[in-house]
Amino acid sequence: MKDHFLVTGGARLNGAVRVDGAKNSVLKLMSAALLAEGTTVLRNCPDIADVPYMADVLRGLGCKVELNGGTVTIHTPDEISSDADIDAVRQFRASVCVLGPLTARCHRAVVALPGGDAIGSRPLDMHQSGLEKLGAKTRIEHGCVVTETEKLTGAKIMLDFPSVGATENILTAAVLAEGTTVLDNAAREPEIVDLCHMLRDMGAQLEGEGSNTITVTGVRKLNPVEHEVVGDRIVAGTWAYAAAMTRGDITVGGIDPAHLHLVLEKLKLAGAKVETYPTGFRVSQEARPTAVDYQTLPFPGFPTDLQPMAIALCAVSEGMSVITENIFESRFRFVDEMTRLGADMTIDGHHVSIRGVEELSSAPVWSSDIRAGAGLVLAGLCADGVTQVNDVFHIDRGYPGFVEKLVELGATVERESGGEGRHHKH
Ligand code: UD1
Repeated sequence: MKDHFLVTGGARLNGAVRVDGAKNSVLKLMSAALLAEGTTVLRNCPDIADVPYMADVLRGLGCKVELNGGTVTIHTPDEISSDADIDAVRQFRASVCVLGPLTARCHRAVVALPGGDAIGSRPLDMHQSGLEKLGAKTRIEHGCVVTETEKLTGAKIMLDFPSVGATENILTAAVLAEGTTVLDNAAREPEIVDLCHMLRDMGAQLEGEGSNTITVTGVRKLNPVEHEVVGDRIVAGTWAYAAAMTRGDITVGGIDPAHLHLVLEKLKLAGAKVETYPTGFRVSQEARPTAVDYQTLPFPGFPTDLQPMAIALCAVSEGMSVITENIFESRFRFVDEMTRLGADMTIDGHHVSIRGVEELSSAPVWSSDIRAGAGLVLAGLCADGVTQVNDVFHIDRGYPGFVEKLVELGATVERESGGEGRHHKH
């Protein structure tokens, strides 16, 4: 039986919420713990299913892992296994981030090709070619990525595209390689910066994180550390959109507002009032939002993970907007569900044109990935009647305590068991 949410539209959300550590950081930091023998402690970890999944992957490699509230403790032995358990890995995409650390520590890695979100094809060519530049041989065999090397050596690497995952795997291999690696066209996301901060505390020699070029000089050994996970900018951004869409007033804590600079600028253009603080921000909106155009780009551009929230806002804004998706080609599946709610949208390749309507109309809808699911919940808050959002297991992967937090902010939202899964729909 799958759970669904019943979202009653009409409430203005008001109040304060705090975000936990970023999903897209914690999983990489957990896997970086493989690089150092001993006990790594991560704090501010979010209570989402991917964390215990990743814990299972690490256990399969020989680590002991304890999860205790927001703290994850990982004991990494001297000898770790190089073969990630296929069933544990297939559960989620981020498990591919063990590739770099395993190649560095074991000089070999076998990692099953991941499953994950239905947002478009997600090849690993840049991960593979980066590791090959460092001296590893890589191949795809029986549904797994396999890497093998006698030793890793620093190299000059230029990525075709600033891929988050490839940047992470190259960095986590280069920190233990012999010599210096210069990684150009590197991803600049705050989660990469978080990983680099942890690696440096562990004893890695690197510089340039947050810029296009990261330089790493390999060391022989890294030491385990305690580290606090950076706040989740995507969850924080989702609350910002919830405030603007419901013409509410939400203060969000636990986040560096610089990580959402462009997002908050876009909300100002839509008519929101935005105040920023050292570790948070406040978004309030009184009048109907006005239409704004978007295009998704690598950081510091507008994040693809907030694209559904932007579409949901434009759906109820005054005027026409055009949203361009440049990162994942299938991310517009969500548009069909928005249309079910009465949104007026047309897809043309990787653009969607949106003519805002005054109010959406409740209907049963289906989440196709974490962010699309959250976008549908926000849309439901602006629909008349009760919107049933199905397949919320996707949303649970990224939004700890979502329903409880929505209720605290004044929304009427319930979780119920027994929703129809997508495959039962017809
Ligand atoms: C990460 C995030 C995801 C976010 C994305 C972009 C995690 C767990 N997930 O995903 O939430 O939406 O960054 O900000 O952190 N690509 C290739 N070849 C490669 C690697 C990537 O063609 O070897 C393509 C992908 O298909 C995609 C684009 O590059 O079109 C961006 O992917 P990437 O930045 O690697 O995203 P992920 O690390 O998978």
